[in-house]
Amino acid sequence: MGSPRIVAIYGSPRRRGNTATLLKQAVAGAREAGAHVEEVVLRDLKLSPCLEIYSCRQDGECRIQDDFQRVRELVLACGGLMLASPIFYYAVSAHTKILMDRFHSLWVKRNWVDAGRDRPTAGRRKGVFISAGATRGKRLFEGTLLSVRYFFDTLDMDLWKSLLYKGLEHEREVQEHPDYLNEAFRTGAELVHALNAETIATAAPT
Ligand SMILES: Cc1cc2nc3c(=O)[nH]c(=O)nc-3n(C[C@H](O)[C@H](O)[C@H](O)COP(=O)(O)O)c2cc1C
Repeated sequence: MGSPRIVAIYGSPRRRGNTATLLKQAVAGAREAGAHVEEVVLRDLKLSPCLEIYSCRQDGECRIQDDFQRVRELVLACGGLMLASPIFYYAVSAHTKILMDRFHSLWVKRNWVDAGRDRPTAGRRKGVFISAGATRGKRLFEGTLLSVRYFFDTLDMDLWKSLLYKGLEHEREVQEHPDYLNEAFRTGAELVHALNAETIATAAPT
């Protein structure tokens, strides 16, 4: 059994902010549990927003030539995806939303180009979403979770776990919460175990 491949996507403009720190912990946990993890920092990439030209109708490929193609390859090849974004106006960050919209080419592929074909990886690939917001409202993550769940579905992934932290505002604030950091580390490791179990389950005779 090979080691699971995981992609970790940093969606905050802050390199050392709260969600980046939490995701780094999750990456460390996943690596310690034996995963091969690729890290993608969205603020370092050249990514156009979706231009809604729908040239992806031909074959599901996005025609805008920028760093999206590389991220797409990584995401298509992975078993697990860990996505981290702060809450900006009750939504994900602009960096994150741009990436999500570009993956609409995959939605087009699945639903229009390859309509009716089997989706062999559906439900076996797993996603983790990590987020933080400054306020403490009951509905802080509600809209974001709906959109992130649907995004993972486009990738043929279940939103397997979300780590959502309220009351974090300043850049290093999460450092004052070792319990949050430990939970993120543990989640990275648990994701690897869940992906390993999935491989065993699919390899076992029925
Ligand atoms: C443009 C912008 C919009 C924000 N909107 C919200 C919001 O709607 N609700 C909230 O609780 N916090 C909001 N925040 C605060 C961030 O979510 C919070 O500081 C978070 O911890 C940042 O995470 P990061 O360090 O990973 O970037 C906003 C911050 C910015 C810069």
